[in-house]
Amino acid sequence: MPISDSAKPTADDDKLDDIPLDQRPAHIAIIMDGNGRWATAQGLPRIEGHRRGVATVRMISETCTELGIQAVTLYCLSSENWKRPQAELDFLMHLLEQYLIEERRTIMDQGLRLKVIGRRDRLPATVIAEMDRTLEMSASNPGTQLVLAIDYGGRDEITMVARELADEVAAGKLTSAEINEDTFASRLYTKGLPEIDLMIRTGGDMRVSNFLLWQISYAELWVTETCWPEFSRADFLDSIRQFKTRQRRFGGLNVNE
Ligand code: IPE
Ligand code: IPE
Ligand code: MG
Repeated sequence: MPISDSAKPTADDDKLDDIPLDQRPAHIAIIMDGNGRWATAQGLPRIEGHRRGVATVRMISETCTELGIQAVTLYCLSSENWKRPQAELDFLMHLLEQYLIEERRTIMDQGLRLKVIGRRDRLPATVIAEMDRTLEMSASNPGTQLVLAIDYGGRDEITMVARELADEVAAGKLTSAEINEDTFASRLYTKGLPEIDLMIRTGGDMRVSNFLLWQISYAELWVTETCWPEFSRADFLDSIRQFKTRQRRFGGLNVNE
């Protein structure tokens, strides 16, 4: 059978019915990259790529709900992205605010629980206000946790925890011997979330770009050349299918070795 035929999704492929819930990733992290390159290739301004990327975010939250994925963390803005031109940053803030307002109904209808990770102090007050409204409204929803990483940096997060622990040791509330991987992880933004099983990057770059440095220790990595605005449901399901074929050893050996 030609490769193109075998790669065509069938009705079953579209649902993942053959992959039991406990074999699907519990927590998926996504580096949503390639918006600007996609737009430039279409002869459009970079911001059009960001605008089109919102539809892909919607597809991801819908598909995660349908597949019973516990948590999905989306990299929306890194702590380094502030280096970009002010006009692009202004547009990103506008888009974020719009998303938080316009998606509120969908978030509630799908039973998604919103969580935001990253620094709050550099975001516009209008964004914070819309964010807090959606966070509060969705706080007891039973579905997928939709985690938005905004002004997030892995190094910044680890440094924040180190500082907090150092302060507590200095104040005599904690001894250094009490600091271990569990106490450290319990101070990270991601506390309470399942371990990240799968990390996806669109746009083809094989790097982590300061995303969830602590949390991706044993995540399976999946990179696609497809840029975020064109990333489809079929691509997303493909990443989950490939995840299922990976042998995860966590430093140990396979069962039959
Ligand atoms: C990712 O797309 C979105 C953000 C970083 C906000 P980019 O804007 O980085 O797009 P490319 O990588 O330049 O194509
Ligand atoms: C990572 O993409 C950040 C987000 C997707 C929000 P970048 O475009 O900032 O990453 P680099 O600069 O190519 O490493
Ligand atoms: Mg990029």
